[in-house]
Amino acid sequence: MLIILLGPPGAGKGTQAEKIVNEYNIAHIATGDILRNAVKEETTLGRKARQYMDQGQLVPDELVVEIVKDRLLEPDCTNGALLDGFPRTVVQAAFLEQVLPDIKARIDRVLSVEVEEGELINRLTGRRICCDCGASYHVKFKPPKVRNVCDQCGGDLYQRSDDTLETVKERLAVYKKQTEPLISFYREKGVLSAIDGNQDIDSVYKQINSILKDY
Ligand code: AP5
Ligand code: MG
Ligand code: ZN
Repeated sequence: MLIILLGPPGAGKGTQAEKIVNEYNIAHIATGDILRNAVKEETTLGRKARQYMDQGQLVPDELVVEIVKDRLLEPDCTNGALLDGFPRTVVQAAFLEQVLPDIKARIDRVLSVEVEEGELINRLTGRRICCDCGASYHVKFKPPKVRNVCDQCGGDLYQRSDDTLETVKERLAVYKKQTEPLISFYREKGVLSAIDGNQDIDSVYKQINSILKDY
C-alpha cells in the first residue's frame, strides 16, 4: 500500500499520518521530520537544508529525492508506506514515478487535504511540538493535558522555528506555486481523492478511513 498525503502547510498531514500508520501498519515517511532531524544532528544534509527551511523555501529536489529513495528501501516499508510532505514539486513526482517499478510498488491513493487559508495560519501559529518524541499539539485545538508538557512522553513542547507568521505566509506562497500543481497531476492519473480538512481532527480521519479501507 502506498499513500501520499498532499496538502498545504498546516492542513493536518502529520496529525492524520499518525492515525493512518497506526491503523494500517505502514511506514510513515515525512520528509520535513527527516530534514528537521538532520538539522538538529548537524549532519551535512542538515547544514545544507537549514537555510531553506528557515526561510520557508523548499529544500532542493536533488537532496530530497535521495532521502526518499533510501528510505523506501528500508525493511519497514515492505508492508507499505505513507508519504507525508513528498512529493512537493513536479520534479519530485516524476522521480517517484521512476523509482516505483524498482521497489515493485504503485501509488494507491493521493489524499489531497484542503483547508481555508485563515485556518491554516491559526493552526500553524498555535502548533507546539514535543522536543523528545515529535508529537504535535495545538494550544487551542489539541492542547496537552498539562501546559507545555507532552502527554505521551513528558517532554517539553516547543514552537517550530518556521511557524512564525512571516515564515508561514512564505510557506503558503511556496505551496501555491510549487506544490499545488500536483493536484491536477494526480487527478489526471485517476488516483486523487479530495478531503475536506476544515473539519475537526476525528471527522477528517473518518473521511480518510472511508477511502483507505478499500485498498
Ligand atoms: P513539513 O514539515 O512537511 O511542513 P509543512 O508541509 O509546511 O506542513 P506542516 O508539518 O507544517 O503541517 P501539517 O500538514 O503536517 O500539519 P499538522 O498535522 O502538524 O516541511 C517543513 C520544511 O521542510 C519545508 O518548508 C521545506 O523547507 C522542507 N521540506 C519538507 N519536505 C520537502 C520536500 N518534499 N521537498 C522540499 N523541501 C521539503 O497540523 C498543524 C497544526 O494544526 C497542529 O498544531 C495540529 O494539532 C493542528 N490540527 C491538525 N488538524 C486539525 C484539525 N482538523 N482541526 C484543528 N486543528 C488541527
Ligand atoms: Mg507535518
Ligand atoms: Zn513527547
